[in-house]
Amino acid sequence: MSPHVLVLGGTTEARALAAELSARPGTRVTTSLAGRVTRPGAVAGELRVGGFGGAEGLADWLREQRVDAVVDATHPFAETITANAARAAAATGLPLVVLRRPGWQPGPGDHWHPVPSLAAAAGLLPRLGHRILLTTGRLGLAAFAHLTEPHFVVRSVEPPEPPMPPHTHVLLARGPFTVAGETALLRAHRVDVLVTKDSGGAATAAKLTAARDLALPVVVVRRPPLPDGVTAVGDVPAVLSRLDALGRP
Ligand SMILES: NC(=O)c1ccc[n+]([C@@H]2O[C@H](COP(=O)([O-])OP(=O)(O)OC[C@H]3O[C@@H](n4cnc5c(N)ncnc54)[C@H](OP(=O)(O)O)[C@@H]3O)[C@@H](O)[C@H]2O)c1
Repeated sequence: MSPHVLVLGGTTEARALAAELSARPGTRVTTSLAGRVTRPGAVAGELRVGGFGGAEGLADWLREQRVDAVVDATHPFAETITANAARAAAATGLPLVVLRRPGWQPGPGDHWHPVPSLAAAAGLLPRLGHRILLTTGRLGLAAFAHLTEPHFVVRSVEPPEPPMPPHTHVLLARGPFTVAGETALLRAHRVDVLVTKDSGGAATAAKLTAARDLALPVVVVRRPPLPDGVTAVGDVPAVLSRLDALGRP
């Protein structure tokens, strides 16, 4: 019988992993997406979309679909599904491999302000600048909605919904972005502070280089911790090695 791997997706790495796994003869791979993005693009193997109904719903799905291993390749800030995956794997006795791309590190010339949350980022902003490029995603805008003075440029893949700050200019765009493009954007909007999550990865790192070149402060929201007892690997080859070591796919 073909081993069945569930990949919890929504990232570039999840897509790459699904391509690698589905190229292995005899392996069945299903990628699961939350359904937040209207045109998610092609995924190798099978695709399912939408929530499972919490950790219990996910555990039921794993049993029904006769899954042999779970890979959590969700975004580093997708905290709830990561916790649910850990609980569902424990409940079903299935192996869980967590893939987390490494976080970004500041270098010489960077002016980074690490903060633990979007609320903390909002608390810091009035001291740092007035024209803010906010790249933390459309779902966290409420944390900044009370800031009535600064001008925000909000960049997101899908249109954001209220509540949001009163002076907000929305840019819809999907990475990857280039340093030249990011520098032009920061200049065109006369941005004096950048706000980002520590998402890691190459696709959206150009903004950090552009901010460094322009000597701009960057507020960096730190990642939430992994669930207790869960460790992560950093790339697709490491996931494949873990799966191989399990004697599974
Ligand atoms: N958070 C970010 O900054 C960010 C950025 C880029 C991409 N993403 C991707 O977008 C998705 C949603 O992110 P989020 O921060 O809203 O997640 P979240 O807060 O951790 O999850 C909220 C709920 O959405 C459902 N869900 C999340 N990921 C799922 C998946 N891959 N397959 C099926 N259901 C999923 C689950 O619903 P049920 O409890 O009903 O199962 C989960 O409880 C994630 O898959 C993530 O990889 C997130």
